[in-house]
Amino acid sequence: MEKIQKIKGFADILPPQSHVYDLLEQTAKAVFARYGYKEARLPILERTELFSRSIGEETDVVQKEMYTFPDRKNRSLTMRPEATAGVVRAYVENGLHAQEELTKLYCAGPMFRYERPQKGRMRQFHQIDVEAFGSASPYLDAEIIFMLSHFLTELGIADLNIELNSLGCPECRPAYHDALNEYFRGFDAGQLCEDCMRRKLTNPLRVLDCKVPACKELTRSAPQISDYQCPSCKEHFETVTGLLDKGGLAYTLNPRLVRGLDYYVRTTFEVTSGKIGAQSAVAGGGRYDGLVKTLGGPDLPGVGFACGMERLAMLMGDPQPPAPDFHLAVLGEAGLGAGLLLAQKLRDAGLCGECALSAKSAKSQMRAAGKSGARFCLILGDAEIEGGTVQVKDMAAGTQDTVPQDALLEHLRT
Ligand code: HAM
Repeated sequence: MEKIQKIKGFADILPPQSHVYDLLEQTAKAVFARYGYKEARLPILERTELFSRSIGEETDVVQKEMYTFPDRKNRSLTMRPEATAGVVRAYVENGLHAQEELTKLYCAGPMFRYERPQKGRMRQFHQIDVEAFGSASPYLDAEIIFMLSHFLTELGIADLNIELNSLGCPECRPAYHDALNEYFRGFDAGQLCEDCMRRKLTNPLRVLDCKVPACKELTRSAPQISDYQCPSCKEHFETVTGLLDKGGLAYTLNPRLVRGLDYYVRTTFEVTSGKIGAQSAVAGGGRYDGLVKTLGGPDLPGVGFACGMERLAMLMGDPQPPAPDFHLAVLGEAGLGAGLLLAQKLRDAGLCGECALSAKSAKSQMRAAGKSGARFCLILGDAEIEGGTVQVKDMAAGTQDTVPQDALLEHLRT
């Protein structure tokens, strides 16, 4: 029969690589808990409208990248391309705003975008996503950026750049839109790509995020949001940057950072690495006051970020899972059952290890023990079974002792 292969842009994450993903999630859980974040586990499939309404009709994600299909009753469903929209939906649908003033959630899992696969860019990728609702305070923006940095430091990832911008608010954004409209009006179809010819009228901020080199070049002298910010956006941003300065967290101001999703206002940020190639963003986020209301909830503010787990994994080197405590080799068919029960006793006591399931040669079992990385190789032959003992080989020291089975646990522990 012909082999069935996985879909392009999708990956099998197998040991030992799966251990890195586990490490990322465990570290996230431990660090985020210190800041009061709790885990949410949410659906992967949502109604398409959730994403088109929140991420924005003009974004690449909604225009070109969503896995959208009708279900059996012809309702349009979409595999989540990001987590924020789903977290906001769950926040609103479950009335969390009525239960607490400030809600802090995180989640981790697969996201789906139909992009051109390349190094660091997959069609199924994984994010660790963090969202906080209910506070418009710039202190929360600063806290969440400190938390992101804390998480990355805890992972041992260094040499990252944090880029920061403020995208203004509904007060000051219209004037900036007008200025961009005015600026882009001067360029025609020969100069801007087909998408940007449309975007310059519908959502000129999206032109600033276009990846087409010619459009990129034209945006160099485009008006900058910092020249249009209202006093309250300015003050908000200065408080955030002031706190980061006082906390000793280095960042770069990037007035061209507009992010690829439409819901952002005020503080936005991206973390990049120079070590993983062209897809250099390992995390991105920002404030999205207004999104909860857009998705049918009360007018409550929110802020969050997401890290790309594939890109973090590329920066993590080669961490190995902890080595087992023992490998139990059985010499002779007769000892297999006794070996299995002995291994079971050790596992019940909290040790970790494997046991031979067939009586292979001593040489091949020692090789298996070495390959497993176990601290001890336990050898059970006919003589040991008869005498109620076991040979204990310390794999690092190379020494070997005969130990009574009922003293084995004590011996291994000491
Ligand atoms: P985003 O910038 O679209 O933001 O994605 C966040 C991170 O996900 C990126 O920085 C990158 O590391 C990773 N990522 C995105 N696309 C891919 C891909 N095709 N392959 C591999 N990794 C990828 C968001 O998704 C927002 N929801 C973040 C957010 C949360 N903002 C507020 N709250």
